[in-house]
Amino acid sequence: MIQANRLSQVQEYYFSSKLREVRALEAQGKPIINLGIGSPDLPPPMQVVEGLTKALSRSAAHQYQPYKGTSDFRNAIQEFYKSHYSVELVSETEILPLMGSKEGILHISMAFLNEGDEVLIPNPGYPTYSSVTELIGAKAVKYELSEERNWLPDLRELAKNDLSKVKLMWVNYPHMPTGASATKQVFKDLVAFAKQHQILVVNDNPYSFILNEHPLSILEVEGAKEVVLELNSLSKSFNMSGWRVGMVCGSEENLNSILKVKSNMDSGMFYPLQAGAAIALRLSKEWFRSLNETYLKRKKLILELTEALNCIPTKDQTGMFVWAKIPEGTTSELIVDKLLHEYDLFITPGFIFGSQGEGYVRFSLCTPEEMIKEAIKRVKQ
Ligand SMILES: Cc1ncc(COP(=O)(O)O)c(C=O)c1O
Repeated sequence: MIQANRLSQVQEYYFSSKLREVRALEAQGKPIINLGIGSPDLPPPMQVVEGLTKALSRSAAHQYQPYKGTSDFRNAIQEFYKSHYSVELVSETEILPLMGSKEGILHISMAFLNEGDEVLIPNPGYPTYSSVTELIGAKAVKYELSEERNWLPDLRELAKNDLSKVKLMWVNYPHMPTGASATKQVFKDLVAFAKQHQILVVNDNPYSFILNEHPLSILEVEGAKEVVLELNSLSKSFNMSGWRVGMVCGSEENLNSILKVKSNMDSGMFYPLQAGAAIALRLSKEWFRSLNETYLKRKKLILELTEALNCIPTKDQTGMFVWAKIPEGTTSELIVDKLLHEYDLFITPGFIFGSQGEGYVRFSLCTPEEMIKEAIKRVKQ
């Protein structure tokens, strides 16, 4: 069968194919240490698992759920945004639960883009923004981020281009893969840019609570709701990536457009997941303190590993990765394959995040300290 034209530009997701290779090596008995993927290995909060388990025995737990999520779950999101970001949201209309923020990228794109519309996409950035844009038949226009500018967009430079066809702009602070964070001023400038050029700016914000002293939401900017949306997720904040729970927040009008797409695609989120997620969102800040204690110890070891590999980490990084510049004279793909085959160590090459990611590699903090120590030992041998 000939596949649809829309797939001609889209590649299989890097990890989907590379992890096949990693698994094949494991099957041959290689003791692979995986520092590639950002899937938290730590357990979710205990109360959350108990909440989910208890919710299973509710009589209506196994039926279809509301398309907009249960009101309790939406209220928990509303409380979370208020207590952690000082953002006021109307629970009924300005919050839409999602099955992970990744699906939101597709729903938002389907809701707002026509074929031929242009979309501003960070380079380097999360690869899904461009693959979804291409699936929709819109045009991905990359904007360059660089270490010299602390991986922040140069809006003045961008404004010199013809932006008349640009409908959507993806931003992602704290940024993956570089760990850069925005300031309130950066978000203010983005909101002003969105208004001036009539662009919908979407901040993808799943990393705000990992090794980050000052979690920020773009919705904190006054008047932002008219022109921005924010995606958020429990995947990283609460070690719940497999649960597939996230949310999109913004104006009622914009969320209604997204709901038109989403309600034709799924039939609500499994009730116990929503019940467990609501418990997570209502936990005190102590949860993040103890989570970050573990990540900080791991990060110190990863920095030792980067040094052993002569890689130089970007300064002031947040999030659950370490992003580091590789030595001159090699490529990120070559160094990753060398580490995989010589040391049974898997890390992520920067090129998969775009051309501006070449020359860098990404180390994940989702591996226990003992494994990172073993990785250091192998490399130093
Ligand atoms: C920048 C970014 N956005 C979104 C996601 C997807 O997160 P979720 O698990 O909420 O779908 C990821 C996951 O790795 C990510 O790195």
